[in-house]
Amino acid sequence: MSAAFIGQPISRVDGRSKVTGSAAYAAEFIVPGHAYAAIVRANVAKGRIATIDSARAEGAPGVIAVFTYRNSPRLAYRPHKGAVDPEVGERLHVLQDDRVTHQGQPIGLVVAETLEQAIDAANLVSVTYTPESAVVDIAHVTPVAPTQQKTDQGEKRPSETLRGNVDSALAAAEVTIDQTYVIPRENHNPMEMHATIAAWDGERLTLWDKSQWVGNVAEEIAAVFGIPATNVHVISPFVGGAFGSGLRTWPHVTLAALGARAAGRPVKLMLSRREMYYGVGYRPHTVQRVALGASREGRLSATLHDAYQETSTYEEYSEALLNATRFLHSCPNVYTRHRLAPLNVHTPTWMRAPGEASGVYALECAMDELAVALKLDPVELRLRNEPARDEHKKLPFSSRSIRECYRIAGERFGWSRRNATPRSMRDGRLLVGWGMASATYPTNYAPASARARLLPDGSAEVTSAASDMGPGTWTSMTQVAADTLGLPIERVRFTLGDSRMPKTPPHGGSMTMASVGSAVQAACRKARDDVLARTGATDLPKALRKLGQPVEASADVKPDDAAGRFSMHAFGAVFVEVTVDPDLAETRVRRIVGAYGAGRIVNQKTARSQCIGGMIGGIGMALMEHSVVDARNGRVTNANLAEYAVPVHADCPAVMDVTFVDEQDPHVNPLGVKGLGEIAMVGVAPAIANAIFHATGKRIRELPITPAKLVD
Ligand code: MOS
Repeated sequence: MSAAFIGQPISRVDGRSKVTGSAAYAAEFIVPGHAYAAIVRANVAKGRIATIDSARAEGAPGVIAVFTYRNSPRLAYRPHKGAVDPEVGERLHVLQDDRVTHQGQPIGLVVAETLEQAIDAANLVSVTYTPESAVVDIAHVTPVAPTQQKTDQGEKRPSETLRGNVDSALAAAEVTIDQTYVIPRENHNPMEMHATIAAWDGERLTLWDKSQWVGNVAEEIAAVFGIPATNVHVISPFVGGAFGSGLRTWPHVTLAALGARAAGRPVKLMLSRREMYYGVGYRPHTVQRVALGASREGRLSATLHDAYQETSTYEEYSEALLNATRFLHSCPNVYTRHRLAPLNVHTPTWMRAPGEASGVYALECAMDELAVALKLDPVELRLRNEPARDEHKKLPFSSRSIRECYRIAGERFGWSRRNATPRSMRDGRLLVGWGMASATYPTNYAPASARARLLPDGSAEVTSAASDMGPGTWTSMTQVAADTLGLPIERVRFTLGDSRMPKTPPHGGSMTMASVGSAVQAACRKARDDVLARTGATDLPKALRKLGQPVEASADVKPDDAAGRFSMHAFGAVFVEVTVDPDLAETRVRRIVGAYGAGRIVNQKTARSQCIGGMIGGIGMALMEHSVVDARNGRVTNANLAEYAVPVHADCPAVMDVTFVDEQDPHVNPLGVKGLGEIAMVGVAPAIANAIFHATGKRIRELPITPAKLVD
């Protein structure tokens, strides 16, 4: 395959349609005659609905129908679990009974002529509850072991692992640290709110939906309504950010379809910003104890990582907090344990490097604390514990460029000029801090399909039911197709975001390029080879002209046995400079320098863009983001973008320096890509936390590191 386009910094092929507003997002599709829906939500965290009176709402202007558990259609709720759904537990059933399991649970739906009428009538539904005592604070429950183990890359992810003997290794260690790190609940907060337009035609349903996985929306809604998945057509060409909130098919999608069917009209349902905190998941609150033991020379002898996180009472959502600890650094004695704290909350979900972002934060802060205790440079500590292979899986790494990442990012940052003593570096009155952390994320690759259609005029139409929540899928797939076909990029049209297109895995877990990209490559190769074989020509446009008719090919790709032979991950290193105002305790991030070994980089421009996004996400995680849950009732007291702070431009440094280490990995997948979406986020928060310690001499172990926590 020639590489005219792969690797090039191609601008987004959908950029023009996005900036001119012609790209239609879920709520923007024009569906004639549609009505609007608004959700009535529970305002207790646990209990039963004692009375629910919808008479006033029904009589309000413009109201078409009001549904509660008392008059709602009974839904089939057939068993269905997609790869993104918790393995244990059962999804929330909406409007099927009087039970309330969490604050903000949907307990009613109003369908009306206008949005204002729907919202107004929803406020007229009067509800009384028989409340039950609810637990919404992680501090008030005893964490329990998950009942079932999640799988990663096709293998079990155990909730407890042990190699060697950690207790005796910790007791014998010359230097130890033992600390607890806390990350609060965080919400995704994409720019575009979740929205669904539902329209029925007999037993057939069309959904325009914000989604990271159209195929799964069709399957889930079909299971909920007890109809064949082929009856559900899901359209989602553009997604205005999601960060994981669009992976599962949440109850509001069911409500839109329920309302549309019962009202006999298409229905549009868009969540408000506030509602985004009550029904599309969040990063769970985590508490992580990390104990490390080492020799004076800085050789790790013991690692203990004991973590727990919140989940709901009806599903066990469990994320990979401990995966990286098991292999990132070499250590003969390692104990990891993962537990869950079931609360009266809605189920948390995947959010921006789920598992690794949280787990690596704790591990890499602990490594920094160990480096301080050892009086050893934190990069040197990591280099002294660089493993020869994955010591947990007992497999070689398919590739691991982390030494190059430390070296390149460290040089670009100027790390050798660091004075190791905390509070020793200043710029005028400001304290300056330099910190670093390692990053890693698994290379996921799942079965995917694509179709290529070559036309006599020398153009190509390539398609796959993928999503693009921002990384640039439209563009990167066009590059892969154009290169594989040997056609100019303007002659290739790639489309995505429709459940009738060939199947893909979820647009998450950093696996779209690996999986869908490999499928696109395979389909294009097949179509091209077919045309050339049929015509005996070597030039594709000439062959297509000669053939005079379209040629179509489909391809399905799936992982080979590489995951059984290699440990496959992307690796990186992140270096950060902060300043802390000694009087106001305000932290500013001045520079972030990251280097990544992430396999082949298909588009230098969108890849760099994605890493900048991850760095900004890391600033939010380290310094700002916190969904404050009221321990009395489970309400999120800052469920809005005025009080839930996220980084704005003024919070982002001018220097966000990204380097991709040249890495050719023949094992991971046919394209040789490792995925970038998540690793870009991993390592940023701990590097910032470590830099703040270096600036101030204060170790804040509970995120976000706000001025209030830094002030004496
Ligand atoms: Mo990503 S949290 O897997 O969308």
